[in-house]
Amino acid sequence: MNLPLLEIRDLHLWMRSFEGEAHVLNGIDLQVQRGEVWGVVGETGCGKSLTGLSVSRLVPTPPGRYGSGQILLDGQDLLALDESAVRSLRGRRIGMIFQDPTTNLNPSFRVSEQLIDVALVAAQHSPEILGLQKGASQRAKRAAARALAGQMLVKVRIPNALDRLDDYPHQFSGGMRQRVLIAMALIGRPDLLVADEPTTALDVSVQAQILILLKEMVQEFNMGVLLITHNLGVVAQTCSHVAVMYAGAIVERGLVAEVLARPRHPYTRALLGAMPTRETPRGGLVGIPGTVPDLIAPPPGCRFAPRCGRASATCLERSPRLVALDTGHEVACVHPLPREGV
Ligand SMILES: Nc1ncnc2c1ncn2[C@@H]1O[C@H](COP(=O)(O)OP(=O)(O)O)[C@@H](O)[C@H]1O
Ligand SMILES: [Mg+2]
Repeated sequence: MNLPLLEIRDLHLWMRSFEGEAHVLNGIDLQVQRGEVWGVVGETGCGKSLTGLSVSRLVPTPPGRYGSGQILLDGQDLLALDESAVRSLRGRRIGMIFQDPTTNLNPSFRVSEQLIDVALVAAQHSPEILGLQKGASQRAKRAAARALAGQMLVKVRIPNALDRLDDYPHQFSGGMRQRVLIAMALIGRPDLLVADEPTTALDVSVQAQILILLKEMVQEFNMGVLLITHNLGVVAQTCSHVAVMYAGAIVERGLVAEVLARPRHPYTRALLGAMPTRETPRGGLVGIPGTVPDLIAPPPGCRFAPRCGRASATCLERSPRLVALDTGHEVACVHPLPREGV
């Protein structure tokens, strides 16, 4: 197989807070190839955002502290880079979209200015995105960046995009602002996109449109994607692969069609069982019994064991590693669920 676009190897992260130091990422392993859309899913607090922030090198250290792991982008360890090297990757090699567009767009600047800025910074290392000859003037670069900003707004299907270019963020609806943010994340032609709950703040029909748009953009730009979400419905709609996280570790991963149809980890099945259905009363959520463990003093062995109906004495002692199953997906469980229908 080709060198993966992104390879996270045995990533450990501790976060210091008032109460003590929590072991929030406990040996994450993940490989993402170009064209793959990985859903990273799990309950609140299981380490999804910190995984995405780690890949974007946005976890402040301190309070964060990494262990011996690596985050390789085309083989280059992001954790070993200094801040200026990291800055040159953001926007250009790694695009980012976060949940709340109001915190990502600066309300005081026109959308055109914000898009042009990102394009010009990306063009310092990737001049080809502006389509100019070497040594082009600042003026020519700015004009090219503005033209590119317009093209991106058209691509993300802002109605009358070219007339809206000089609008301020507050002149757009929530869904349209999220489209602007996608344009901003992609204007530097990144190879990897990290999207953390990109549609959670949007209502369901707008969410579906944004997810369709994201899927189209991934194909057109041939990116690898980490799509962080607590919503398995979003994973089913959008992703090719899924990594299920629990208490700082990936407990199951593989093709979406495989993992969601035949979950083998008791936690994945519980998550699927907790998904709201048509029958669930509006606003009602079926929770998974029990609570996530304390990460300052995590229980030894499998972190899910205290909530797991299948746990045995072994589970309380030994922390299971991901193991490949006959179906091609992987599960970290001493007592995986039987393959249904066999
Ligand atoms: N800045 C921080 N300082 C201390 N603990 C943090 C910080 N950010 C996140 N955590 C802790 O790390 C764990 C994982 O958080 P996060 O990655 O945000 O989870 P998720 O995105 O899955 O909801 C949580 O227990 C959270 O309380
Ligand atoms: Mg989060």
